[in-house]
Amino acid sequence: MIILDGKSLSLKVLEKVKKRVETLSVEPHLVVILVGDNAASKIYVNNKKKAAEKVGIRSTIIELEENISEEELISVVRKLNDDDNVTGILVQLPLPAHIDKNKIITVISPKKDVDGFTPENVGRLVTGLEPYYYPATPQGIIMLLDEYNIPIEGAEAVIIGRSNIVGRPMAQMLLRRNATVTMCHSYTKDIESKIKTADILVSAVGKKIVRCKMVKKNSVVIDVGIFRDTNGKITGDVDFDYVSSSAGYITPVPGGVGPMTIASLMYNSSKVYL
Ligand code: GUN
Repeated sequence: MIILDGKSLSLKVLEKVKKRVETLSVEPHLVVILVGDNAASKIYVNNKKKAAEKVGIRSTIIELEENISEEELISVVRKLNDDDNVTGILVQLPLPAHIDKNKIITVISPKKDVDGFTPENVGRLVTGLEPYYYPATPQGIIMLLDEYNIPIEGAEAVIIGRSNIVGRPMAQMLLRRNATVTMCHSYTKDIESKIKTADILVSAVGKKIVRCKMVKKNSVVIDVGIFRDTNGKITGDVDFDYVSSSAGYITPVPGGVGPMTIASLMYNSSKVYL
């Protein structure tokens, strides 16, 4: 069983991004909007800022009050769209309940949408056009699969979770690489029988779901989940000890998908479309 070392690949990717940034004629500038005081979001946003510093990308965090209105938030995004000194805009999710995230995301200029979440970038992804940016987590996962020369074409890929951030774009990116993709979610009947068919399994749920001897012999198990278990230990969706006896490759938590997501976001943030 081989551990897919996201930490070490992320360092390599960040090094490449740093070199690329040095060659750019326009200074990239990532602006991250953080609304309210979600503790986890604060940590994520600070990690993004630290990574940006490491690769020489200027970054700014705009912190806004929890009770900001949709209209006010839209006007902040519009100003950033129009600002030639800003090359990337990221609105950290989740947003407070009174704000419709889709309304906000739709306003972001597709050429500054480093998350790849706008309808234009999603539409480009789905139709086979080139998006300006691919969503960071699935892009980081593809980098990891490629690094270990894991074949995607013709593979049976099973994705658990249908979020706009991970599950859906992951499905589209694997489809583009000619995998056969099965999506599972909370209404899927008999998930276990689907999981058993997977050559590549991606779990993005946020709770321990892949825990039995469900996975196919020598399959590739990608664990996107990250949360604290009842003992306070950081863990993922997959019962690592159990599954590692049958999987061929597995991502650890922490040290797998997490660092790749950040590195992939930095890669996106180094792209400039002014
Ligand atoms: N919240 C959790 N993951 C993400 C992400 O990839 N992008 C944004 N904007 N918010 C998130």
